[in-house]
This record gives sequence, C-alpha cells and structure tokens, in this order.
Amino acid sequence: MRNMGPAWSLADIPYQEIDRSRLAGSEDWFGLLAASSFIEILSDLYARNLAEYYAGDAGVCAWLTGKWEAEEVQHGRALRRYVEHVWPDFDWERGFAGFRADYSPYCQTQFLGPTRALEMAARCVVETGTASFYTMVRDLAPEPVLAMIAGRIRADEIGHYKAFYRYYRQYQDHERNGRSRVARELWRRVAEVDSEDAYLGVRNACRIRYPDRPFGRTDFTAFRARIAAWMRKGYPFPMATRMLIKPLDLPPLVHRLAVPVLVGTARRLVALSG
Ligand SMILES: [Fe+2]
Ligand SMILES: [Fe+2]
Repeated sequence: MRNMGPAWSLADIPYQEIDRSRLAGSEDWFGLLAASSFIEILSDLYARNLAEYYAGDAGVCAWLTGKWEAEEVQHGRALRRYVEHVWPDFDWERGFAGFRADYSPYCQTQFLGPTRALEMAARCVVETGTASFYTMVRDLAPEPVLAMIAGRIRADEIGHYKAFYRYYRQYQDHERNGRSRVARELWRRVAEVDSEDAYLGVRNACRIRYPDRPFGRTDFTAFRARIAAWMRKGYPFPMATRMLIKPLDLPPLVHRLAVPVLVGTARRLVALSG
C-alpha cells in the first residue's frame, strides 16, 4: 500500500542533543508532555473503535489502521522518549498503566457517531485541537529538539485533519446533514475535547512523579489556568477557528465575517479561564 506508515521516524530526532537544563525544572512542561505521550499512545484503542465503526469501508479502515494509528502512536513514542530524556527518574510505564486503567472506559464505540459523516466532523474537531496544540508547543518550546518534535507532529495532525475532512465530505454527500446539525455536533465535541483525557493524563503523570503530593480537580484547574496563559501567547486561534468551522461549509462572506468574531470569543474564553 502506498503512502502508508509514518513519514518520519524516531531515528530522525536528535535526542542526544536535548538541552535538559532548559525545561527539566518545569512541572508544567512535564505534565503537559507526559500527558500528551499517554494520550497519543492510547490511539491504538481509538483506531480499533473507529475501524469497527466504519466497518465495510475498506479505504477508511486501511487508512485508520495503516496510517493514522501508526502516526498517532509514533507521536506518543516520540514524546515518551523526550520525557524520559529530560526527566529520567519518571517511571513512564507506571504512569501510563494508571492512565490506561482510568481512561479506557471512555473509549468505547457507543460514544461514536451519531452518523458516519458526523463522526468524521468530530474527528476534524479533535485534529484541529491537536494541530493547534502542537503549533503552540513548537512556538513556545524552550528547547530546540522539543520544537522539532512538535513541528513534525503538527504536520502529521494537519494531514489527519485533511484526511478526515475528505472522508467527511464523502459521507456528507450522501447523508446531507443540515448545517445546524453539523454545528451542534462540532460544538458538542469542542466542549468534550479537553474534558477527561487531559485531566487523567496530567493526574497520572504527576502522581507518579510527585508521590507525596495528591493531584485532584483543583490542582488540575490551577494547571489549566497556567496553560491558558501560554495559550494567550502561543495558541493559533485564527488557524484553529478556520479549521473548526470548515465542515459547516459557510458561504464565503459569512465565513469571512464569522472567523474574526469566533477568534475573539475563543480568546476571551481563554482569558477568563486564566
Ligand atoms: Fe497525534
Ligand atoms: Fe492526529
């Protein structure tokens, strides 16, 4: 199969050149990167669920398991190796085992849908989130090897968005969901995006690294407020907004009017949470 498998490998990353001193003392970078490595590696569970959901569509299933899953899992491995270089005393396996146990119940086929087109639109929301997140990590990274890894991951996430968007269009041509239905589905997923996985990821990472400090909801709220300050500096709001509303297929003028309004709203929401 052509074009399958990741476009790069861990051998392309100069881990030996990492300047640990640039971020080894930052608990926030630790929590963010360790949690991201957990979430990315767990993509094999998602890929299986999605392939089950799209059973019968050979093209989608081949892409999901041959390309998408391989790339997402590689993102997790690349980040894991980075975390282990910078924080060598962190027991990644234990942290991940806790995360997997906590999070697996949320990864089930009954949470997908409600239709094949709308699930593709929802996947676009998720990839918008990851593409934007790694753009921020690349641009704010205090260390060049991290910036390089984030740049590679970002390019893959944009590729995933494009593929899911293409599949969305194909299903939508048949299903013809109305704009308001698509909008409701997009909004539902936006509200869900950072709900449980980020909390469980950061909590399991921090519990292992700081065993005598409990990590609960209030600690996570404080963590999120600190990350919101980073977002104000480095989150690509215009790019995220354009990607997010693309499945609505708004008339060009409406699209041009909507983007700045939504960007402003998103910035204000992040400012309020910080
Ligand atoms: Fe990823
Ligand atoms: Fe992705």
